Amino acid sequence: MNYRVAIIPGDGIGPEITREARKVLDRVCAIYGHSFEYKEILLGGASIDVHGIPLTEEAIKEARNSDSILMGSIGGDAKSSPWYQLEPEKRPEAGLLKIRKELNLFANVRPAYLYKELKEACPLRDEIIGNGFDMVIMRELTGGLYFGERKTFIENGIEKAIDTLAYDEKEIRRIAKRAFEIAIKRRKKVCSVDKANVLDSSRLWRKVVEEVAKDYPEVMLEHMLIDNCAMQLVKDPKQFDVILTENMFGDILSDEASMVTGSIGMLSSASLNEGKLGLYEPSHGSAPDIAGKDIANPIATILSAAMMLRYSFDLEKEADAIETAVKQVLIDSYRTVDIMSKGKTLVGTIKMGDLITERIR
Ligand code: NAD
Ligand code: IPM
Ligand code: MN
Repeated sequence: MNYRVAIIPGDGIGPEITREARKVLDRVCAIYGHSFEYKEILLGGASIDVHGIPLTEEAIKEARNSDSILMGSIGGDAKSSPWYQLEPEKRPEAGLLKIRKELNLFANVRPAYLYKELKEACPLRDEIIGNGFDMVIMRELTGGLYFGERKTFIENGIEKAIDTLAYDEKEIRRIAKRAFEIAIKRRKKVCSVDKANVLDSSRLWRKVVEEVAKDYPEVMLEHMLIDNCAMQLVKDPKQFDVILTENMFGDILSDEASMVTGSIGMLSSASLNEGKLGLYEPSHGSAPDIAGKDIANPIATILSAAMMLRYSFDLEKEADAIETAVKQVLIDSYRTVDIMSKGKTLVGTIKMGDLITERIR
């Protein structure tokens, strides 16, 4: 089959890691007889440098016309990059929020899985790790604080800023359904995370999630407050199967979950809408501190490409082939610096991409 894939290299390490993911995809094509037609799209700082804005209408059109989108990461160092001299709505991150909203990518799936081989990279003690853990964070992606009204103004001579956190029941219902659908195929547990002891939006969240749960009697539902959840993730990550939460809580919890799996460089993600088009990107950022050094871990992006094959193209076997190749490289003891431990072989970004590519069967 032929698939149109929009590629967003982005900024910082973005171009380095997407290059490796493309290499892996090309190998999958050659072995399984598909063809991917790539089209590069500018987003973030890369787009600002050319067009003065982080995402053009043209780029949105290209994205819409593709079968799916594979992205690296966007953004720069807020202290030194000229992009952060611009007004907030012209900065790199605004482009990312815009593409998520325009394509209605409300469901952000972030699987956090500890490979046995990466036990040494996990900062938790052996007795906490046990046989490892395997959870999915289902993060709402087009609502909440990120998209509420915001302003900065002067009141009585004092500078003030406001951000609003709003959700309606429809937005909550559709993401909750997604979480239950995923849980049904896994260990059948949903932990819905909120701050219902303080926030009205969380109280509505809880009520709607309870309603949705009635349609999935075989799935066990638990509610947890966000502060407790942040603590439980390091105390006993094994307890989690599917974590369902709103936009900002999900942003924070997914970075935390990534670290208990060894490194943020391992955490893939899929941002999905009601249809088949998805945006696949690692959960981490553009890592300006290590950009251009050939040391970034490309695995999160490569695993995101595998998610693309599975969710957007229904290419199960091909997605499995990528995941198996990643696992094999870890079994064969190759590590980028972020997951390095004693006795393993240290490799750079390009070499890691090559090693995974060679192992695609
Ligand atoms: P970051 O995720 O870029 O980096 C945090 C730390 O993790 C850094 O030490 C970095 O070197 C390390 N790291 C990240 N990815 C890695 C990888 N693949 N391999 C090895 N190490 C890796 O977060 P930050 O520094 O807070 O943000 C940098 C920029 O990225 C900001 O402009 C931010 O807005 C942006 N950002 C973009 C996305 C995205 O595009 N989806 C996500 C998060 C942050
Ligand atoms: C992520 C990132 C983005 C977010 C930023 C760059 C806007 O941190 O994808 O996790 O907060 O959603
Ligand atoms: Mn984040």
